[in-house]
Amino acid sequence: MVDLSTTYAGLKLRSPLIAAAAGITGTVERLKKAEDNGIGAVVTKSLFQKEICRVSPTPRFKVIKHSGSTTLYSYEQASEYGPEEYAEFIYRAKSQLSIPVIASINCYTDEAWIKYGKLVEQAGADAIELNLSCPHGVHLMSGIDVIKSMVATTKLMKNAVKIPVIPKMTPQSTNPGSDALRLDQAGADGLVMFNRFTGLDIDVEKEVPVLHGGYAGHGGPWSIMFSLRWISAVSPHIRCDISGSGGVMNGEDAVKYILAGAGTVQICSVIILNGYQVINRINKGIEKFMESKGYSSISEFKGKICSRIKSMDEVDRTQWAKAEIDMIRCTSCGLCARVCIYDGIDADEKYSVNDKCDGCGLCAEICPAKAISMVRR
Ligand SMILES: Cc1cc2nc3c(=O)[nH]c(=O)nc-3n(C[C@H](O)[C@H](O)[C@H](O)COP(=O)(O)O)c2cc1C
Repeated sequence: MVDLSTTYAGLKLRSPLIAAAAGITGTVERLKKAEDNGIGAVVTKSLFQKEICRVSPTPRFKVIKHSGSTTLYSYEQASEYGPEEYAEFIYRAKSQLSIPVIASINCYTDEAWIKYGKLVEQAGADAIELNLSCPHGVHLMSGIDVIKSMVATTKLMKNAVKIPVIPKMTPQSTNPGSDALRLDQAGADGLVMFNRFTGLDIDVEKEVPVLHGGYAGHGGPWSIMFSLRWISAVSPHIRCDISGSGGVMNGEDAVKYILAGAGTVQICSVIILNGYQVINRINKGIEKFMESKGYSSISEFKGKICSRIKSMDEVDRTQWAKAEIDMIRCTSCGLCARVCIYDGIDADEKYSVNDKCDGCGLCAEICPAKAISMVRR
């Protein structure tokens, strides 16, 4: 019997999955749907000090297909609630849900951070997520030193409230690793790594930005590797809990975050695009992995990958591999020979590997017939 329960910033969660701040967590009814489908905790849609952000344009979503990947491009803005309505929303959420409710706020003055923080604390929030990382927020657009501001705000909020304080980091930084260490030292109880990127897509026919006409939030399955890289680098060195965020589409993705050192995993786009039922499926995916490995608790595999990541000096550089073509499967499409910059594949009547094969492995990766494998020289 596997146990999915975990802890995050001192809170007890029945599952490592957290519904990330977005429209999907904007009302009590939506929070209930997430709870009913097995979520471990919810982060409520961000309350913004900047009032203009409380109204979103329509339409505000675009699903952009790149070759083989997807971006959920969006210009969804803040919670529509003002501070008092938001506190009331948190109060109602707490009275109707039995899982932890984390309130997300985004301010640009110290006075508002303290005021909003105290309001949500009094309303019963279990923790506060500091959203200074919104891809269309004031801070990222103004060019101010976001990490300096994050550290100062973390300290400010730690003094202002008693509940856990969790900064949500931007991926748009020159050094997310040192940012995480600084926020940990500033007293953060948890860290969300990361919010989304700010992007631009262009309608080349009309020669204008797509959607609402400006920059927008930019994320998708492709973004997971960035978060995994930084979480695995910092998790062995920091005291506070990490919540992995970005690009989770299934149970395997969630497992990757835990192996990299995150104790919880935030999901958003996958719920927007598939509905709340997907939470159940992702929980089951994690359970299936645990059963197959004989793990009974999350802590048994959390961070397991960190000590297995090789440094540049440790990488095996022996030239042991070369390509081999299975002529029964080969359809003679010629793709392998076209992409081989080493001219390692002869494309006569029959395709064959010659001595110039460098062993890079690209042909085996792209062969549509899966006719190529890498073997020992
Ligand atoms: C439509 C949309 C709205 C979002 N709104 C917020 C928000 O209000 N506050 C916030 O901190 N993050 C917000 N996010 C970011 C998510 O909380 C989360 O960090 C991110 O989407 C995780 O990546 P994923 O969507 O690939 O799961 C939003 C994301 C999307 C897609």
